[in-house]
Amino acid sequence: MRVALGVGGGIAAYKAAEVARLLVQRGVQVRVIMTSSAQEFVRPLTFAALTGQKVITSLFPEGGAEGTLSSAVEHIGVALENDLLLVAPATADLMAKFAHGLADDFLSTMYLAFPGPTVLAPAMNTGMWQHPATQANLATLRGRGITIVDPESGFLACGMVGPGRLAEPESIVDAVLRKLSVRRDLEGETVLITAGPTQEPIDPVRYISNRSSGKMGYALAEAAVARGAKVVLVSGPVSLNPPVGALLVPVRTAAEMRDAVFQHLAEATIIIKAAAVADFQVVRVAEQKIKKTAARVSLELDPTPDILLELGRRKEDRLLIGFAAETQNLKSEARRKLEAKGADMIVGNLVGEGAGFEADENEVVLVMRTGEVREVPRASKRKVADAIFDEALTLRLALYASG
Ligand SMILES: Cc1cc2nc3c(=O)[nH]c(=O)nc-3n(C[C@H](O)[C@H](O)[C@H](O)COP(=O)(O)O)c2cc1C
Repeated sequence: MRVALGVGGGIAAYKAAEVARLLVQRGVQVRVIMTSSAQEFVRPLTFAALTGQKVITSLFPEGGAEGTLSSAVEHIGVALENDLLLVAPATADLMAKFAHGLADDFLSTMYLAFPGPTVLAPAMNTGMWQHPATQANLATLRGRGITIVDPESGFLACGMVGPGRLAEPESIVDAVLRKLSVRRDLEGETVLITAGPTQEPIDPVRYISNRSSGKMGYALAEAAVARGAKVVLVSGPVSLNPPVGALLVPVRTAAEMRDAVFQHLAEATIIIKAAAVADFQVVRVAEQKIKKTAARVSLELDPTPDILLELGRRKEDRLLIGFAAETQNLKSEARRKLEAKGADMIVGNLVGEGAGFEADENEVVLVMRTGEVREVPRASKRKVADAIFDEALTLRLALYASG
């Protein structure tokens, strides 16, 4: 989910930093736009550090005519790539501009171009708030379907007591998530996810591994955090940032992954094995780098521990979901794996053709212990992750509700 967060020039601008932090913690990507007045109160760097994204501070890009077309019309790009526009604090001035369609800075211009839902959290002095002009603008904006997170009553920075104080950051974030209809249906769950490849050492500088990027596992972790779960992400070496709010347990080899998984098994209610664990490990890892020679060299390999199989035996009533990356016979291979390992669901993943390993999109088939099969059409890995959780919750009801 992507939210554009507009920050207006009021005392409460500093509270927008907490709003940004909470959204990021819930797995939302936040793009901050600051009005020039807002920059008098808080530095853009605060928001850049909290969101990991460049903050937009003006309508006209640096470099002027030398800028690229896409950066020059950034207000349209930002309008189209975000799912929701939140303005906090919304000043009296911004509400007037939005109500009347003025477009003299980035935020007001983008508001006009924005096709999605808008949420405003006004904050101002009581007199400004109660002024008929502000109230008329408010009525216009409400009439347009804009969600208003009403200001609270209390002590204001100007010394007055009355309505006008910015709503609490938690309430603003709740309103945003409600508007995005984010399900919080994993609250109370602990989801244990494995992701990425493993590396099995040959000598101090070489290893056996595979092309897994970890993107699917990380998308699952992001979705689970957003839906309210506690997430333990056991990850092989990847070059991805873990979602804020997930506990990252970095591992390298299949044996380390096994140990980490069983260390966290007790607390888990749902286990998803999205990692591409190496199937073989080197029997005798050389202590020194193996020298290059003209002669043929062979490596003796042992199978790695079968984590999924062991989980299948020890899972009790936890929901166990495995992955099967195949190049052919997807459904039958997924069904075979499900039965052999004692899993509740296998996510069959056809690798190659822009899906599966390394890709940003995936197309999967979900094979369930109930015998049901569901195809998830090609979509972003994040959307596929949500479809997996939707199906997992339905499956658990079918499997365990009666017992
Ligand atoms: C110290 C100070 C505090 C202010 N606080 C607010 C405020 O809380 N709400 C508001 O609507 N305007 C407030 N203003 C007035 C706005 O900064 C002013 O209307 C500005 O033009 C808003 O610009 P913007 O809407 O582009 O951010 C304040 C001004 C100053 C100097």
